Amino acid sequence: MKVPYLDLKKINNTYIKELESAFHQTMDSGWYIIGNNVTEFEKEYANFSSTKHSIGVANGLDALIISLKALNVGKGDEVIVPSNTYIASWLAISYVGATPIPVEPRIDTYNLNPELIQSKITTKTKAIMVVNLYGQAAELEEICIIAKNNNLYVIEDNAQSQGASYKNQITGSWGDINGTSFYPGKNLGAIGDGGAITTSNIDLYNFCKVFRNYGSQVKYFNEIKGINSRLDELQAAFLRKKLPDLERISNIRIELAKIYNLGLKNVGDLVLPKIASHATSVYHIYLIRTKRRDELMNYLAEHGVGTVIHYPIPPHLQEAYKELNYTKGDFPIAEEIAETCLSLPLHQEMSLDELNFVIEKIKSFYK
Ligand SMILES: Cc1ncc(COP(=O)(O)O)c(C=O)c1O
Repeated sequence: MKVPYLDLKKINNTYIKELESAFHQTMDSGWYIIGNNVTEFEKEYANFSSTKHSIGVANGLDALIISLKALNVGKGDEVIVPSNTYIASWLAISYVGATPIPVEPRIDTYNLNPELIQSKITTKTKAIMVVNLYGQAAELEEICIIAKNNNLYVIEDNAQSQGASYKNQITGSWGDINGTSFYPGKNLGAIGDGGAITTSNIDLYNFCKVFRNYGSQVKYFNEIKGINSRLDELQAAFLRKKLPDLERISNIRIELAKIYNLGLKNVGDLVLPKIASHATSVYHIYLIRTKRRDELMNYLAEHGVGTVIHYPIPPHLQEAYKELNYTKGDFPIAEEIAETCLSLPLHQEMSLDELNFVIEKIKSFYK
Protein backbone atom coordinates (compact mmCIF):
# COMPACT_ATOMS: atom_id res chain seq x y z
CA MET A 1 0.00 0.00 0.00
CA LYS A 2 1.11 3.56 -0.70
CA VAL A 3 -0.06 6.33 1.61
CA PRO A 4 0.81 9.79 0.32
CA TYR A 5 1.20 12.58 2.88
CA LEU A 6 -1.63 14.47 1.22
CA ASP A 7 -3.88 13.66 -1.73
CA LEU A 8 -5.24 16.95 -3.07
CA LYS A 9 -6.60 15.34 -6.22
CA LYS A 10 -8.71 12.93 -4.18
CA ILE A 11 -9.84 15.71 -1.82
CA ASN A 12 -10.89 18.08 -4.61
CA ASN A 13 -12.47 15.33 -6.71
CA THR A 14 -15.12 14.94 -4.03
CA TYR A 15 -16.31 18.46 -4.97
CA ILE A 16 -15.79 18.13 -8.73
CA LYS A 17 -19.43 18.78 -9.71
CA GLU A 18 -19.70 21.88 -7.51
CA LEU A 19 -16.30 23.17 -8.64
CA GLU A 20 -17.22 22.69 -12.30
CA SER A 21 -20.44 24.57 -11.83
CA ALA A 22 -18.56 27.37 -10.01
CA PHE A 23 -16.13 27.54 -12.94
CA HIS A 24 -18.91 27.76 -15.55
CA GLN A 25 -20.87 30.30 -13.54
CA THR A 26 -17.76 32.51 -13.23
CA MET A 27 -16.90 32.13 -16.93
CA ASP A 28 -20.45 33.03 -17.91
CA SER A 29 -20.52 36.06 -15.64
CA GLY A 30 -17.71 37.68 -17.66
CA TRP A 31 -16.53 39.35 -14.41
CA TYR A 32 -13.27 37.95 -13.02
CA ILE A 33 -11.95 40.41 -10.42
CA ILE A 34 -13.86 41.38 -7.24
CA GLY A 35 -17.33 40.39 -8.33
CA ASN A 36 -20.27 38.74 -6.66
CA ASN A 37 -18.34 35.64 -5.55
CA VAL A 38 -15.63 37.60 -3.72
CA THR A 39 -18.21 39.84 -2.05
CA GLU A 40 -20.42 36.93 -1.02
CA PHE A 41 -17.50 34.79 0.11
CA GLU A 42 -16.28 37.65 2.28
CA LYS A 43 -19.67 37.75 4.01
CA GLU A 44 -19.73 33.97 4.39
CA TYR A 45 -16.18 33.76 5.73
CA ALA A 46 -16.83 36.62 8.19
CA ASN A 47 -19.92 34.77 9.35
CA PHE A 48 -17.94 31.53 9.73
CA SER A 49 -15.28 33.43 11.72
CA SER A 50 -17.77 35.27 13.95
CA THR A 51 -16.34 38.62 12.83
CA LYS A 52 -18.16 41.53 11.30
CA HIS A 53 -15.94 41.71 8.23
CA SER A 54 -13.66 39.70 6.00
CA ILE A 55 -11.51 40.82 3.07
CA GLY A 56 -10.36 38.34 0.43
CA VAL A 57 -6.71 38.71 -0.57
CA ALA A 58 -4.23 36.94 -2.82
CA ASN A 59 -2.62 34.68 -0.20
CA GLY A 60 -2.01 34.20 3.52
CA LEU A 61 1.28 36.09 3.60
CA ASP A 62 -0.42 39.15 2.10
CA ALA A 63 -3.25 38.80 4.63
CA LEU A 64 -0.67 39.22 7.41
CA ILE A 65 1.24 42.03 5.67
CA ILE A 66 -1.95 44.00 5.01
CA SER A 67 -3.13 43.41 8.59
CA LEU A 68 0.13 44.86 9.94
CA LYS A 69 -0.13 47.80 7.53
CA ALA A 70 -3.69 48.44 8.73
CA LEU A 71 -2.39 48.65 12.32
CA ASN A 72 0.31 51.04 11.13
CA VAL A 73 3.08 48.69 12.26
CA GLY A 74 6.31 49.65 10.52
CA LYS A 75 9.92 50.72 10.82
CA GLY A 76 11.21 50.85 14.39
CA ASP A 77 8.37 48.70 15.75
CA GLU A 78 8.74 45.29 17.33
CA VAL A 79 6.25 42.46 16.95
CA ILE A 80 6.23 39.41 19.20
CA VAL A 81 5.97 36.17 17.22
CA PRO A 82 6.50 32.46 17.99
CA SER A 83 10.03 31.15 17.49
CA ASN A 84 8.69 27.96 15.88
CA THR A 85 6.19 29.21 13.31
CA TYR A 86 6.25 28.86 9.55
CA ILE A 87 8.52 31.64 8.27
CA ALA A 88 5.59 33.52 6.65
CA SER A 89 4.62 34.97 10.06
CA TRP A 90 8.12 36.47 10.43
CA LEU A 91 8.33 37.58 6.80
CA ALA A 92 5.14 39.65 7.11
CA ILE A 93 6.64 41.53 10.07
CA SER A 94 9.91 42.11 8.21
CA TYR A 95 8.11 43.17 5.07
CA VAL A 96 6.46 46.14 6.79
CA GLY A 97 9.87 47.15 8.21
CA ALA A 98 9.28 45.98 11.79
CA THR A 99 11.41 43.50 13.76
CA PRO A 100 10.18 40.02 14.72
CA ILE A 101 10.80 39.33 18.43
CA PRO A 102 10.71 35.56 18.88
CA VAL A 103 9.06 34.01 21.92
CA GLU A 104 9.27 30.28 22.59
CA PRO A 105 6.25 27.96 22.40
CA ARG A 106 5.26 25.40 25.00
CA ILE A 107 7.07 22.15 24.25
CA ASP A 108 3.86 20.10 24.45
CA THR A 109 1.27 22.17 22.55
CA TYR A 110 3.78 23.91 20.22
CA ASN A 111 1.83 27.15 20.64
CA LEU A 112 3.13 30.45 22.04
CA ASN A 113 3.80 30.30 25.79
CA PRO A 114 1.95 33.30 27.30
CA GLU A 115 4.20 33.20 30.38
CA LEU A 116 7.23 34.17 28.30
CA ILE A 117 5.69 37.18 26.56
CA GLN A 118 5.83 39.93 29.20
CA SER A 119 9.64 39.91 29.55
CA LYS A 120 10.00 40.48 25.78
CA ILE A 121 7.83 43.61 25.73
CA THR A 122 9.77 46.86 25.27
CA THR A 123 8.78 50.46 24.50
CA LYS A 124 9.05 49.51 20.82
CA THR A 125 6.62 46.60 20.97
CA LYS A 126 3.51 47.33 18.97
CA ALA A 127 1.80 44.00 18.48
CA ILE A 128 1.71 40.29 19.22
CA MET A 129 1.34 37.98 16.24
CA VAL A 130 -0.05 34.79 17.69
CA VAL A 131 -0.02 31.72 15.46
CA ASN A 132 -2.58 28.92 15.86
CA LEU A 133 -0.13 26.26 14.79
CA TYR A 134 -0.82 22.82 13.29
CA GLY A 135 -4.59 23.28 13.66
CA GLN A 136 -4.68 24.08 17.37
CA ALA A 137 -5.92 27.34 18.90
CA ALA A 138 -3.26 29.09 20.96
CA GLU A 139 -3.99 30.33 24.50
CA LEU A 140 -5.74 33.28 22.96
CA GLU A 141 -7.51 34.72 25.96
CA GLU A 142 -4.34 34.90 28.07
CA ILE A 143 -2.45 36.45 25.16
CA CYS A 144 -5.17 39.04 24.51
CA ILE A 145 -5.13 40.02 28.20
CA ILE A 146 -1.35 40.56 28.11
CA ALA A 147 -1.78 42.65 24.95
CA LYS A 148 -4.54 44.73 26.51
CA ASN A 149 -2.54 45.36 29.68
CA ASN A 150 0.40 46.55 27.61
CA ASN A 151 -1.55 48.48 25.00
CA LEU A 152 -0.54 46.15 22.16
CA TYR A 153 -2.44 44.95 19.13
CA VAL A 154 -3.09 41.25 18.53
CA ILE A 155 -2.95 39.67 15.10
CA GLU A 156 -3.82 36.01 14.75
CA ASP A 157 -2.00 34.07 12.06
CA ASN A 158 -4.81 31.61 11.49
CA ALA A 159 -3.50 30.06 8.27
CA GLN A 160 -3.51 26.56 9.77
CA SER A 161 -6.49 26.54 12.09
CA GLN A 162 -9.73 27.61 10.43
CA GLY A 163 -12.55 26.41 12.68
CA ALA A 164 -10.53 25.71 15.84
CA SER A 165 -11.55 27.45 19.05
CA TYR A 166 -10.34 28.60 22.44
CA LYS A 167 -12.82 28.83 25.31
CA ASN A 168 -15.56 28.22 22.74
CA GLN A 169 -14.60 31.26 20.67
CA ILE A 170 -13.43 30.56 17.13
CA THR A 171 -9.89 31.36 15.98
CA GLY A 172 -9.60 34.30 13.62
CA SER A 173 -11.94 36.32 15.85
CA TRP A 174 -9.66 37.04 18.82
CA GLY A 175 -7.18 39.48 17.36
CA ASP A 176 -7.80 43.09 16.39
CA ILE A 177 -7.23 41.76 12.91
CA ASN A 178 -6.40 38.27 11.67
CA GLY A 179 -5.05 36.57 8.56
CA THR A 180 -5.67 33.18 7.03
CA SER A 181 -4.52 31.22 3.98
CA PHE A 182 -6.42 29.16 1.43
CA TYR A 183 -3.26 27.56 0.02
CA PRO A 184 -4.47 24.28 -1.54
CA GLY A 185 -3.19 22.09 1.30
CA LYS A 186 -4.93 24.08 4.03
CA ASN A 187 -8.08 22.68 5.68
CA LEU A 188 -10.05 25.15 3.55
CA GLY A 189 -7.96 25.10 0.39
CA ALA A 190 -8.51 26.87 -2.92
CA ILE A 191 -7.44 25.50 -6.32
CA GLY A 192 -4.53 27.93 -6.24
CA ASP A 193 -3.50 30.74 -3.92
CA GLY A 194 -5.89 32.70 -1.75
CA GLY A 195 -6.20 34.29 1.67
CA ALA A 196 -8.45 36.39 3.86
CA ILE A 197 -8.37 38.94 6.64
CA THR A 198 -11.00 38.93 9.38
CA THR A 199 -11.79 41.80 11.75
CA SER A 200 -14.72 43.41 13.52
CA ASN A 201 -13.13 46.86 13.38
CA ILE A 202 -14.71 48.95 10.62
CA ASP A 203 -11.67 51.25 10.21
CA LEU A 204 -9.29 48.33 9.80
CA TYR A 205 -11.74 46.73 7.37
CA ASN A 206 -12.00 49.89 5.28
CA PHE A 207 -8.21 50.24 5.13
CA CYS A 208 -7.67 46.62 4.02
CA LYS A 209 -10.40 46.74 1.41
CA VAL A 210 -8.84 49.77 -0.22
CA PHE A 211 -5.18 48.79 0.30
CA ARG A 212 -5.53 45.38 -1.41
CA ASN A 213 -6.93 47.13 -4.50
CA TYR A 214 -4.24 49.69 -5.39
CA GLY A 215 -5.48 51.96 -2.59
CA SER A 216 -8.56 52.68 -4.62
CA GLN A 217 -12.29 52.39 -4.00
CA VAL A 218 -13.37 54.11 -7.15
CA LYS A 219 -11.41 53.05 -10.23
CA TYR A 220 -8.53 55.44 -11.04
CA PHE A 221 -9.01 57.43 -7.81
CA ASN A 222 -6.23 56.41 -5.41
CA GLU A 223 -6.57 57.40 -1.77
CA ILE A 224 -3.48 55.57 -0.48
CA LYS A 225 -0.49 53.74 -1.97
CA GLY A 226 -1.93 50.26 -2.03
CA ILE A 227 -0.97 47.00 -3.67
CA ASN A 228 -2.67 44.48 -5.89
CA SER A 229 -3.58 41.58 -3.63
CA ARG A 230 -7.11 40.53 -4.50
CA LEU A 231 -8.68 37.15 -4.03
CA ASP A 232 -9.53 35.84 -7.51
CA GLU A 233 -13.22 35.72 -8.36
CA LEU A 234 -12.73 32.14 -9.53
CA GLN A 235 -11.01 31.09 -6.29
CA ALA A 236 -13.79 32.78 -4.31
CA ALA A 237 -16.34 30.80 -6.34
CA PHE A 238 -14.51 27.55 -5.51
CA LEU A 239 -14.14 28.48 -1.83
CA ARG A 240 -17.86 29.23 -1.56
CA LYS A 241 -18.54 25.63 -2.60
CA LYS A 242 -16.08 24.24 -0.05
CA LEU A 243 -16.71 26.44 2.99
CA PRO A 244 -20.06 24.83 3.94
CA ASP A 245 -18.22 21.50 4.23
CA LEU A 246 -15.44 22.75 6.51
CA GLU A 247 -17.04 21.71 9.78
CA ARG A 248 -17.55 18.15 8.51
CA ILE A 249 -13.93 18.07 7.36
CA SER A 250 -12.69 19.26 10.76
CA ASN A 251 -14.74 16.57 12.50
CA ILE A 252 -13.30 13.83 10.28
CA ARG A 253 -9.77 15.08 10.93
CA ILE A 254 -10.45 15.08 14.69
CA GLU A 255 -11.74 11.49 14.49
CA LEU A 256 -8.72 10.32 12.48
CA ALA A 257 -6.40 12.01 14.98
CA LYS A 258 -8.12 10.09 17.79
CA ILE A 259 -7.36 6.82 16.00
CA TYR A 260 -3.70 7.81 15.63
CA ASN A 261 -3.63 8.78 19.33
CA LEU A 262 -4.95 5.36 20.37
CA GLY A 263 -2.85 3.37 17.92
CA LEU A 264 0.40 5.15 18.70
CA LYS A 265 0.02 5.42 22.47
CA ASN A 266 3.15 4.17 24.28
CA VAL A 267 4.86 3.23 21.02
CA GLY A 268 8.65 3.71 21.21
CA ASP A 269 9.71 7.19 22.26
CA LEU A 270 6.89 8.88 20.35
CA VAL A 271 5.50 12.15 21.69
CA LEU A 272 1.90 12.57 20.51
CA PRO A 273 -0.01 15.84 20.06
CA LYS A 274 -1.27 17.51 23.22
CA ILE A 275 -4.24 19.85 23.15
CA ALA A 276 -4.22 22.62 25.76
CA SER A 277 -7.19 22.79 28.10
CA HIS A 278 -9.90 25.06 26.64
CA ALA A 279 -8.37 24.70 23.15
CA THR A 280 -9.54 22.62 20.22
CA SER A 281 -7.55 21.47 17.21
CA VAL A 282 -8.77 20.87 13.68
CA TYR A 283 -5.59 18.86 13.02
CA HIS A 284 -4.29 20.67 9.99
CA ILE A 285 -1.17 18.69 10.82
CA TYR A 286 -0.83 15.53 12.94
CA LEU A 287 2.63 16.00 14.33
CA ILE A 288 4.60 13.49 16.37
CA ARG A 289 8.07 13.82 17.82
CA THR A 290 10.88 11.29 18.21
CA LYS A 291 14.63 11.35 18.71
CA ARG A 292 14.80 8.91 15.80
CA ARG A 293 12.91 11.21 13.42
CA ASP A 294 15.13 10.87 10.33
CA GLU A 295 15.37 7.08 10.70
CA LEU A 296 11.58 6.80 11.11
CA MET A 297 10.95 9.11 8.17
CA ASN A 298 13.22 7.02 5.92
CA TYR A 299 11.68 3.77 7.14
CA LEU A 300 8.17 5.03 6.40
CA ALA A 301 9.24 6.28 2.96
CA GLU A 302 10.67 2.82 2.18
CA HIS A 303 7.30 1.36 3.12
CA GLY A 304 5.29 3.77 0.97
CA VAL A 305 4.23 6.26 3.65
CA GLY A 306 4.75 9.95 2.92
CA THR A 307 5.63 12.27 5.81
CA VAL A 308 6.68 15.92 6.06
CA ILE A 309 8.79 17.93 8.52
CA HIS A 310 7.02 21.09 9.74
CA TYR A 311 9.58 22.71 9.86
CA PRO A 312 13.21 21.59 9.55
CA ILE A 313 14.82 24.99 10.26
CA PRO A 314 13.25 27.53 12.63
CA PRO A 315 13.11 31.10 11.27
CA HIS A 316 15.92 32.43 13.53
CA LEU A 317 18.39 29.98 11.95
CA GLN A 318 17.32 30.61 8.36
CA GLU A 319 19.78 32.25 5.99
CA ALA A 320 17.10 34.90 5.34
CA TYR A 321 17.38 36.08 8.96
CA LYS A 322 21.14 36.14 9.34
CA GLU A 323 21.03 39.91 9.94
CA LEU A 324 19.36 39.29 13.32
CA ASN A 325 22.55 37.42 14.40
CA TYR A 326 20.84 34.55 16.16
CA THR A 327 22.76 31.34 16.63
CA LYS A 328 21.94 27.74 17.47
CA GLY A 329 20.85 27.49 21.09
CA ASP A 330 19.08 30.87 21.18
CA PHE A 331 15.61 29.29 20.97
CA PRO A 332 16.11 25.72 22.20
CA ILE A 333 12.44 24.72 22.20
CA ALA A 334 11.94 25.76 18.57
CA GLU A 335 15.18 23.94 17.71
CA GLU A 336 14.16 20.80 19.58
CA ILE A 337 10.83 20.73 17.71
CA ALA A 338 12.61 21.23 14.37
CA GLU A 339 14.99 18.35 15.11
CA THR A 340 12.41 15.84 16.30
CA CYS A 341 9.09 16.57 14.57
CA LEU A 342 7.40 14.52 11.89
CA SER A 343 3.96 15.05 10.36
CA LEU A 344 1.98 11.92 9.51
CA PRO A 345 -0.55 11.67 6.67
CA LEU A 346 -3.95 12.94 7.77
CA HIS A 347 -6.71 14.27 5.58
CA GLN A 348 -10.46 13.90 5.24
CA GLU A 349 -10.31 11.45 2.31
CA MET A 350 -7.85 9.11 4.02
CA SER A 351 -9.26 5.62 4.54
CA LEU A 352 -9.10 3.73 7.83
CA ASP A 353 -7.03 1.09 6.03
CA GLU A 354 -4.48 3.74 5.12
CA LEU A 355 -4.43 5.11 8.64
CA ASN A 356 -4.02 1.67 10.20
CA PHE A 357 -1.28 0.88 7.69
CA VAL A 358 0.67 3.94 8.90
CA ILE A 359 0.17 2.90 12.53
CA GLU A 360 1.33 -0.67 11.80
CA LYS A 361 4.43 0.53 9.96
CA ILE A 362 5.37 2.83 12.83
CA LYS A 363 4.90 -0.01 15.30
CA SER A 364 7.02 -2.34 13.20
CA PHE A 365 9.76 0.33 13.06
CA TYR A 366 10.00 0.29 16.85
CA LYS A 367 9.86 -3.52 17.19
C1 LIG B 1 1.39 29.65 9.77
C2 LIG B 1 1.30 30.18 8.38
N1 LIG B 1 1.26 31.51 8.18
C3 LIG B 1 1.16 32.04 6.95
C4 LIG B 1 1.12 31.24 5.83
C5 LIG B 1 1.12 31.89 4.49
O1 LIG B 1 0.08 31.51 3.67
P1 LIG B 1 0.26 31.54 2.06
O2 LIG B 1 1.09 30.39 1.67
O3 LIG B 1 -1.14 31.46 1.56
O4 LIG B 1 0.89 32.84 1.72
C6 LIG B 1 1.14 29.85 5.98
C7 LIG B 1 1.03 28.90 4.87
O5 LIG B 1 1.71 28.78 3.95
C8 LIG B 1 1.25 29.30 7.29
O6 LIG B 1 1.31 27.99 7.49
